Amino acid sequence: MPSRRSERRARATAPEWAEATQLRQSLTARAGQALREGDDAAAKVLESALRTRERVERTTHGFHAYPAALHPDGAAALLTLGSGPVLDPFCGGGTVLVEALLAGRSGLGCDINPVAALVARARTTRTTEAERTALRGLARRAADVARRAGLNNADSGGRNTSMLQAPVADVLWDWYDPWVVCELDALRHAVGNDPLGRAVFSSILVKVSRRESETANHRTEEARPPSTTATLFHKRAREFARQLEELAAAIGEGPEPRARVHREDARELRERGEFGMVVTSPPYPGVYDYLPLQQLRIAWLGLEPGESLRDEIGSRRSFKSDRTEAVAAWKRDTARWVRAACRALVPGGRLAVVIGDGLVAGRPVDALGPLGEAARAEGMERVARTTVERWDEGVERMRPEHAVLYERGSK
Ligand SMILES: C[S@@+](CC[C@H](N)C(=O)[O-])C[C@H]1O[C@@H](n2cnc3c(N)ncnc32)[C@H](O)[C@@H]1O
Repeated sequence: MPSRRSERRARATAPEWAEATQLRQSLTARAGQALREGDDAAAKVLESALRTRERVERTTHGFHAYPAALHPDGAAALLTLGSGPVLDPFCGGGTVLVEALLAGRSGLGCDINPVAALVARARTTRTTEAERTALRGLARRAADVARRAGLNNADSGGRNTSMLQAPVADVLWDWYDPWVVCELDALRHAVGNDPLGRAVFSSILVKVSRRESETANHRTEEARPPSTTATLFHKRAREFARQLEELAAAIGEGPEPRARVHREDARELRERGEFGMVVTSPPYPGVYDYLPLQQLRIAWLGLEPGESLRDEIGSRRSFKSDRTEAVAAWKRDTARWVRAACRALVPGGRLAVVIGDGLVAGRPVDALGPLGEAARAEGMERVARTTVERWDEGVERMRPEHAVLYERGSK
C-alpha cells in the first residue's frame, strides 16, 4: 500500500508539490515566533535547543535511528545550562548521554524500551582498537555468509525455512523479501551475543524491510535486491567502528567520563541526590507508541519487552481509546517522573525538559501545564521557558514545543 505521503505526492502536480514544500519550509522558518520567559540568557539557550535542525554526524549520532530523538546540538545546548553528572530518565537512543560524554560529563540513561537500552549502550560504548578490529572482522565474516544465503534463496525462490539457522517469526516473513529473511537470519546467527554486532544488525532492520519508515507502519512495495542486505550490514559495521573510534578519542581513557544505561521506569527511579542535572525529553502526549514501533527489532533480536507496553507513558493508543482517562493518567505520570527526577538531583541541581503538546483527533493536548504543576509541587523554581510553534510533518499542522529549565532549591 502506498504511504499517505507518497499518495499525496502522486496526487499533486509537480508545481503544486514544490509550492507545498515551499510553504512547509517557510512555516518551519516561521518557528521564529518564540515565546520566552524568565532568565533571558537561559531562555535563548532553550530556544536554540528547540531550533537546531542541521544534520549532525559527529561520533555515534548518525549510527542508529530512534523515534523523536533529541537533536545532538539541542542536547549539547541544554547541557550548558547546568553542571555535574547528568541523568536522562527517558534516554531513548542515548543522544543526551553521547553529548554528556563529549562535554566530559558522566551520565545515566534510563528507558523502559529494550531497543532504547540496546542502542544507547552501543552508542556510548568506550572501545579499544582491538575491539573495533574484532567488530570489523565479525562483520566481514557475517556478511560473506549472509550474501551466500541470500543468493541461494533467490535462486530457489520463495519462503524456504529449511535454509534457516533458527526459526523466524511469521510476522517477519510479512515484512521482508524471502531472500532478505535468509540474509538477516545468517547475520543474526553470525553476530550471536556480541553487543556491538547486535546493535549494527538492529540498525538496518527497518531500512531493509518493506516498512516505510521508523515511525510509520505503512508498507512500501519496493523490493530489495539479493545480497544488498549483507553489504549494507558490512558497511554499517565499518562506519560504526569509525564512529566509535572518534568517540573513544574524544572521551579519553580515564575512568571518567562514563555512561551507564538502565532499563528502568522513569516514575520509579532509585537514584537519590547524585546528579547535577537532569536533561530529558519525555514522550509527547498521544504522539507515538514507542514499543510497537520496535516490533521488527524485538522479534529479530529476541528482546524481552517485559511490562514496557503497560508502562509506556503518553502512548498514542491510550489517547485513542479513552482520551479523558489518558489525560488524567498523563498528569499522574508526569507528577511521578518529575518527583523521581527531582529526588535524583543534588541541591541546586537543574532540570531541563524538551516537550511538545500532543495533537489527538485534531485536538491539542497540553503538556506544559502538568509539567509546571509537577515541578512546583516538588519545590522546583522555574528559571526560564521558551515555546516555539513547529511544523509537524505527521499531522501537517503547527504544534507548540517547549523547553523549560527548573532549579532545585539548595536544601
Ligand atoms: C522522546 S523519546 C526520547 C528520545 C531520546 N531523547 C533520544 O534522543 O533518542 C521518549 C522515550 O521515553 C521512553 N519511555 C516511555 N515511557 C517510559 C517510562 N515509563 N519510563 C522510562 N522511559 C519511558 C520511550 O521508550 C522513549 O524511548
